[in-house]
Amino acid sequence: MSKYILPVSVFGTVFGCAVLLKNHVTGGRCKSKATIHGKTVVITGANTGIGKETARELAKRGGRIIMGCRDLEKCEAAAKEIRGKTLNPHVYSCRLDLASLKSIRQFAERIKKEESRVDILINNAGVMRCPAWKTEDGFDMQFGVNHLGHFLLTNLLLDKLKESAPSRVINLTSLAHILGKIDFEDLNWENKKFDTKQAYCQSKLANVLFTRELAKRLQGTGVTVNAVHPGVVATELGRHTGLHQSQFSSSVLSPFFTLLVKSPELGAQPSVFLAVSEEMEGVTGQYYDVMTEKEPAPLALDDEVALRLWEVSSRLVGLKEDRQSQSEPAGSKQSNAVETHKPSPQTSPTAAASASALEKH
Ligand SMILES: NC(=O)c1ccc[n+]([C@@H]2O[C@H](COP(=O)([O-])OP(=O)(O)OC[C@H]3O[C@@H](n4cnc5c(N)ncnc54)[C@H](OP(=O)(O)O)[C@@H]3O)[C@@H](O)[C@H]2O)c1
Repeated sequence: MSKYILPVSVFGTVFGCAVLLKNHVTGGRCKSKATIHGKTVVITGANTGIGKETARELAKRGGRIIMGCRDLEKCEAAAKEIRGKTLNPHVYSCRLDLASLKSIRQFAERIKKEESRVDILINNAGVMRCPAWKTEDGFDMQFGVNHLGHFLLTNLLLDKLKESAPSRVINLTSLAHILGKIDFEDLNWENKKFDTKQAYCQSKLANVLFTRELAKRLQGTGVTVNAVHPGVVATELGRHTGLHQSQFSSSVLSPFFTLLVKSPELGAQPSVFLAVSEEMEGVTGQYYDVMTEKEPAPLALDDEVALRLWEVSSRLVGLKEDRQSQSEPAGSKQSNAVETHKPSPQTSPTAAASASALEKH
């Protein structure tokens, strides 16, 4: 029995110290006290995890918050909770499925039509290590949601962001980007064996490359864009991983894991820091590891890859077509997706009612 005392007490001490020090080691809170009254924030995947806590913190700071989520019921439940807890009535739920180009276009149309400004866009939603699922448009789910969906959404909201300048775009990436490679020959895992980890890493590398290329294109517009790894945070992100899939790991390992990693509230602090802090004014094209600017992986610094990814992504989501059809005289070309989609807002009745009431103010 006594032979176990030493290792058990060493493990207990190390574990206890790790739990006590984790908040300090993992970055703490955003120190800025900046408020954002009069500013509009659009945040994706805000019904749970980091997104929900980011929405809550920015609502506390006085912003008008548009939460874009694929499940409107969950979204409205989260929005209602945030309105109640922060006493900020300007928190709205709106349907956005990043696995559908049509849904993204409808969401963007609605924002462009109904919102007078967009000051902060937080591309937060994410899916990690899911099976070889495809989006509605046939893209690999992780590449489609994490990269292409946000790529399209951001591009569609760029005019609004420019009109509202100085404005900020924040892209949630991950440290996992360092293991990523962009396989231009097979971005959607059609010709090789599917590797869900690698698919996640590819999508998160794409987030950093997109950030850097977009920052270049936005020079002089007053719109900044940065990418952030939020740290390791106890959220639902691991829902497709082993940790959540066996009885043993979900009941024994998962609680240990949760004790060692950041709460979603702390996990939201890096996004809040990038969105509001005074020291981020004018900073663009950078990668943040929690709240510290760091150099991303060498592949993420490759400007040619970033440009090529931009061009391929534009083609995949149909942005080039949009530009062409806009510059051609009406009727000279068959209308494409943008022209044919009538904006059809899909907010919950409560949110729609409160939104239209507030529009009048
Ligand atoms: N947690 C971490 O340790 C960690 C580390 C590094 C990076 N990140 C990044 O942080 C971001 C937030 O992740 P999280 O940890 O908060 O994960 P989470 O708790 O799983 O939240 C992800 C959010 O994204 C939404 N989402 C997924 N697919 C979507 C789609 N097709 N359309 C619209 N929304 C969709 C989810 O909606 P549903 O609830 O409906 O599924 C959910 O609201 C992600 O980009 C992730 O890659 C997290």
